[in-house]
Amino acid sequence: MISIKNLLNSFDLTKEDLLEIIDLGNAIYKSPDDFSHCADGKILGTLFFEPSTRTRLSFESAMLRLGGSVVGFSDAGVSSSTKGESLADTVRTVSQYADIIAMRHPQEGAAFLASKTADCPIINAGDGGHQHPTQTLTDILTISNYKKDLSGHVIGLCGDLKYGRTVHSLLKVMSMFPDNKFILISPEELKLPEYVKKEVFADGTNNFEEVRSLDDVMDQLDILYMTRIQKERFFSQAQYTRLKDSYLLDKEKMQAAKDDCIVLHPLPRVTEIATEVDSDPRAVYFKQVKFGMYVRMALILKLLEANNDRNN
Ligand code: NCD
Repeated sequence: MISIKNLLNSFDLTKEDLLEIIDLGNAIYKSPDDFSHCADGKILGTLFFEPSTRTRLSFESAMLRLGGSVVGFSDAGVSSSTKGESLADTVRTVSQYADIIAMRHPQEGAAFLASKTADCPIINAGDGGHQHPTQTLTDILTISNYKKDLSGHVIGLCGDLKYGRTVHSLLKVMSMFPDNKFILISPEELKLPEYVKKEVFADGTNNFEEVRSLDDVMDQLDILYMTRIQKERFFSQAQYTRLKDSYLLDKEKMQAAKDDCIVLHPLPRVTEIATEVDSDPRAVYFKQVKFGMYVRMALILKLLEANNDRNN
C-alpha cells in the first residue's frame, strides 16, 4: 500500500511508493486485459482549468480501461468558476460525485488547496509552473523500460527549466536514485529556479552542472529530456519570441548521441525536435505517451486502495 492519500507533488512520493506504482504500471503494460474490471463502478472526476490533450485523455482512457467511468470538464469556461465559485467549493462538490479527481490548474499550489476540501483523493495533473507528478511517473516507467535501472545515468534536461513543471517533478524523483548526474541545458533566463535546486540537490548524493549548449554535451548523455519553451507562462511576448527557438534537436545533433541514449519529451512538441528525429529508434517520446496511460491506471488503483483504507 502506498503511503500517500493524494498525489500533489512528486516530492511526496517515497522511493517505495514510486517503485510500487511503477511495478504495477509494468504489470498493466504487459497484460492490460487482466485489469479491465479493477475499477468497476468507480468514477474519476477530471477538472481541467487549463488546456490539455494527453494528460486529460490519458487519465480518461486509464479509468475507462479499468472499467470505471469519467465525469468532468476540459474548459473552465463551462464550469461554475465563471459564476465566481471558488476552487475549494468546486472541488468539494465534485468530490461528492467522484471517487477520485485529476485536476489541472494554472495556479501553483491549486491541487494542494483542493486536497484540503475534497472528500476523495486528488491527483495534480499540473499546477502552473510548479509540478506535474504524473508526467514524472510516465517518464520513469518509460526510462525503466529502456534502461536496466534508474541509477548511474547522465541525464540532460534541455529547454525551459524555469517554467517547465515536468522537469521540476522529474528531477526530484531521479535524484532519489544514486549516482545520477544532471546536465541542465537552458538559456540563462530559463535556468532551473533556485528553490528547486535547493530541494533536489541539498543532500549532495547527485550532482549537476548548468550549460547553455546542447551540442557541447550531446555525446555524454544516457537520457535526453527535451522540453517546450512554456509560452503561456511568459510575462513578456518579446522575451518569448527571443527565446522560443533556443534549441533544435535534429538528425545532425543525434549523430553525436550515444547508441543507447534515449530521447524523451513530455509533449506537446513545438519546434524543439525536428520531425526527422521521430524515426530514430532512440526517440521514445511517442512510446512515452502509452506508458503514461498505463502508469495512470496504476496510480488510480493505488490511490483508490489507499483511500479505501482511510474510509474503513
Ligand atoms: C506538459 C505540461 O502540461 O506541463 N505536457 C503534458 O502534460 N504532457 C509539458 C508542456 O506542456 O510543455
